[in-house]
Amino acid sequence: MTAVIGKQGPDRGDTDGGAAHRAWDELLARRTHALGGGEITAILSLAGATDIITFSGGFPEPATFSTGVLADIAARLIAEDPGVALQYSATEGLAGTREYLSGRLAAQEGRAPDTGELMITSGGIDCMELLAKSYVDPGDVVVVESPTYLGAIMAFRGYEADVRGVPIDDDGMRVEVLAGLLAGGLRPKIVYTIPDYQNPSGLSMSAERRQALADLARRYGFLILEDVAYRELGFGPALGDSTVLGASTASPPSLWSLAPDVVLQAGTFSKIFSPGFRMGWAAGPAEIISRLVVAKQNSDQCAGALGQRMLEEYGRRGHLDHQVAGARVLYQRRASLTTAALAAHMPAGSTWTTPAGGFYVWLTCPDGVDTVALAAAARTQKVAYVPGRPFYLEGAGAGANQIRLAYSRVADDLIDEGIRRIADVVKSGL
Ligand SMILES: Cc1ncc(COP(=O)(O)O)c(C=O)c1O
Repeated sequence: MTAVIGKQGPDRGDTDGGAAHRAWDELLARRTHALGGGEITAILSLAGATDIITFSGGFPEPATFSTGVLADIAARLIAEDPGVALQYSATEGLAGTREYLSGRLAAQEGRAPDTGELMITSGGIDCMELLAKSYVDPGDVVVVESPTYLGAIMAFRGYEADVRGVPIDDDGMRVEVLAGLLAGGLRPKIVYTIPDYQNPSGLSMSAERRQALADLARRYGFLILEDVAYRELGFGPALGDSTVLGASTASPPSLWSLAPDVVLQAGTFSKIFSPGFRMGWAAGPAEIISRLVVAKQNSDQCAGALGQRMLEEYGRRGHLDHQVAGARVLYQRRASLTTAALAAHMPAGSTWTTPAGGFYVWLTCPDGVDTVALAAAARTQKVAYVPGRPFYLEGAGAGANQIRLAYSRVADDLIDEGIRRIADVVKSGL
C-alpha cells in the first residue's frame, strides 16, 4: 500500500512548489520499510464486529469488566483527587500505583522489586518498544520463540534487529536448541519468551527449561525478556495461593523471580483488567529500568495517571483479584468448548493444543491446507481467525496450515457454530 495522493516530479503540473502532492512512502525512514503491520490492523479492525463470529483478536471478554465499580471509582477520583488523577504522572509511574503493584508481585511471585526495579508502562507492548529503542542497534540479534507474538517481532524489527526463531514444543521454547546456537557462536542481546500460555500456541515453558534458560543468560550475558501477559489466567490454582504451593498444577516460577539479575519482566493489565486503560509494567534490573524511563520520556512520557489511580483503587479494594478469579473460570469453560467443537468438526489429520490457561488454541490443519488463502472464504461464512504464517519469521516456511483461535471473546453458545464454520472452510480447502 502506498500513500500516493498525486503525481510528484517535473510533470506534476502544479504551481505551488509541489508541497501538496507527495508520494509519502518515498520519505519513509529505511528502518520502517520492512514493517508490515497489516495483520494487527486486520485483527483490531474486527474489534467492534457484531455480525461475525470472531476467533481472531486476543481480546478479553467485556463481561469481565466491572463497569459499575469502575464508574464509581472514576467519579470519586475525578471529584476528590483531580490534582493527581487528571495530571501528568512521574515517568516511572505514580508511587502509590507502583507500591500496590510491588505488593501484588511479592504475593504472586515471592519477590518484591527493589527500589528502581519497577516502572508502569502503557501496556505490554510499550515495554518491548522501550527496550528495543534503548538496547537494539541495527543488526543486533534478538531471539524469539517460533511461533511467537506478532507485536514483539514488530517491536524488535522496528529497530532493525536481526530476529531469529527457536522452535517450541509442549514444554515451551526448546532451550537445548538455543544452547546449541549459543555454543555455535550466536550472541543475542535479548531472548524474548512468553513462558505462560503462550501467544499463539497456548503452551507453557516447563520449570526445568526456565532454570536452564536463566543459566544460559548468565553464562552468555544476554537479557531475557519475559512476557507474562497471560500468566495470571491459568486454569489451575490461582498464583500465590499458598494452600496449593508445590501442587503439580501450580504454575512454575516466573523467570524474573528465578533470575532477577538477567530478566526483564513485561506485564500487562490488558488481559486481566481492561485494555482500554493501556496499562502494564516492567520489572527488572534497576540499570535497565532507568534506561526505559529515559526512553519513555521521548515517547508518551508516562502512562495515564487516571488509569494508574483507577487500577490502584480497584486493586486495593480486591476487585482485580475477584475479576481474575471469575475470568479464569470463564476462559477455562470457553477453552474446553473450543477443543470439544474441534473434536466434533475438524477433518481427520487435524491437531490442536489443549490450553491450561490464557486465550488461545493453536490448530494445525491437514497438510496442504492454506489458511491464509482460506481466510477470505471464512469471512464470507461470517467467521474469522488469524492464519498461522505471520506468527513465524518469514523464511521459516511454517504456519501455512495453522490457525490461531482466540476463544476469549466468543460467546459460549457461538463457539460450536463458529468452529463448525471454520471446519467447513478447511474441508473445502482439502
Ligand atoms: C503475548 C502478548 N504480549 C503482549 C501483548 C500486548 O498487550 P498490551 O500492549 O495490550 O498490554 C499481547 C497482546 O495481545 C500479547 O499477546
